[in-house]
Amino acid sequence: MGRLDLTCIGELAALGEAGFAQGWHERNGGNASYRLRADEAQAVEAACPADAPWQPLGVQAPGLGGQLFLVTAAGCYFQDLAAAPERSLGIVELDAAGAAYRQRWGFAGGGRPTSEFAGHMLIHEARVAATGGAARAIYHGHPASVVALSKLVPLEPRAVTRVLWQAMTESIMVVPEGVGAVGCLVPGSLDLARASAEQMRAFAAVLWASHGLLVSGDGLLDAFGRMHALVKAADIYMRARAANGGSDSFPNAVPDEALRAIADSLGLAPNEAFLGSSVR
Ligand code: 13P
Ligand code: ZN
Repeated sequence: MGRLDLTCIGELAALGEAGFAQGWHERNGGNASYRLRADEAQAVEAACPADAPWQPLGVQAPGLGGQLFLVTAAGCYFQDLAAAPERSLGIVELDAAGAAYRQRWGFAGGGRPTSEFAGHMLIHEARVAATGGAARAIYHGHPASVVALSKLVPLEPRAVTRVLWQAMTESIMVVPEGVGAVGCLVPGSLDLARASAEQMRAFAAVLWASHGLLVSGDGLLDAFGRMHALVKAADIYMRARAANGGSDSFPNAVPDEALRAIADSLGLAPNEAFLGSSVR
């Protein structure tokens, strides 16, 4: 295995420690991936052999053909990423058709990409299209407040988005387009992969019912920040609702005019379909 000195490896290890400290990664919960820039891919090409066998991806992501991804290993513990990154992480290359992958670095001891790898690839493809290529990171975790919220709120994007937007003023800044939602699907399944990618064509975050949250970002730090803000919003909603006797009819609700003013102040275009009505 070649020696690699890529900033993204250290960033992903740091994200693992920070996410674990937040309580989002019990056991092997959560996974993450990062689409390498051209200069990072060149460093891999120079240092790492290209002799591992191709493996079928199980889906097709032709929009990502030939690209390289840093990805967490299936079953790895996020608090361990920093101690042994070459074991808990790997770099894989997609073939030209985006239908198969091969290992280029990492996964020491026989590891393989996360069980959600097919979903990550479909979601990367969706986010590349949605952001003109700016989005590079995907991060998934199991924050308790988001999982709890998914048991109370209708599992559709408008309802989930309005709850999070109204919880605190920062939310609309980090997800002006809103948040997607999918039902309770089998972790690691192609159904979950496809349903998530469909949502991520429009949204930079998607709630997985009774499971967790998946976010995208331009980089790993951006993705972590988006997760952090949305988890805090979900936590505030759950606390306020509990303190309000279980009701979500709060004495001091956040009006849509306030949400629109926040977005306006930053030059952001909020998703108008999720504003403009008192109907949740
Ligand atoms: P992996 O260990 O395969 O990444 O699975 C963790 C997880 O959170 C699945 O949703
Ligand atoms: Zn999960």
